[in-house]
Amino acid sequence: MRVLTITSIIHVYQFEELGADDKTLLQTAMEATRRSYSPYSRFAVGAAVLLADGTVVTGSNQENAAYPSGLCAERTTLFYANSQYPDQPVQTLAIAARTEEGFVNDPIPPCGACRQVILETEKRYNQHIRILLYGLKGIYEIQSIGDLLPLSFEASAMDPTTR
Ligand code: THU
Repeated sequence: MRVLTITSIIHVYQFEELGADDKTLLQTAMEATRRSYSPYSRFAVGAAVLLADGTVVTGSNQENAAYPSGLCAERTTLFYANSQYPDQPVQTLAIAARTEEGFVNDPIPPCGACRQVILETEKRYNQHIRILLYGLKGIYEIQSIGDLLPLSFEASAMDPTTR
């Protein structure tokens, strides 16, 4: 028997420690929570992605009375970015979330389905996507989805030459 150990690295910053571009992107994600349609959970999530050419695309969670028909902020935003700007790799994804009381203290990590879509976007453009998660107590910076979704399923698993 042997043990495989998987390590994830997350850098934690105070907002003031961030660079100007990251601050702006996080503030854009925070603003995007205002456009959330979340009458069922009352949990508003906003996302902002920075594309390689400098374009910023925002999105928010969009809920539905038939609950599974809704979509998280991350996938709303990435699908829109990839469909409108298919030749622009995603560089950074910023996420913010708030309840009726205000923004969350601890960052909200993306759900499993969103992690899988972030992974696909990294693979599609062959470029790591930095992820910034906003919390009042600190901001998490993740260099690549590999830190949030280790041992992931991807297209290469279906390629007989790599098996
Ligand atoms: N939600 C997101 O938008 N992103 C996540 O990563 C987690 C959850 C949304 C989905 C739903 O509208 C609400 O938050 C409560 O789960």
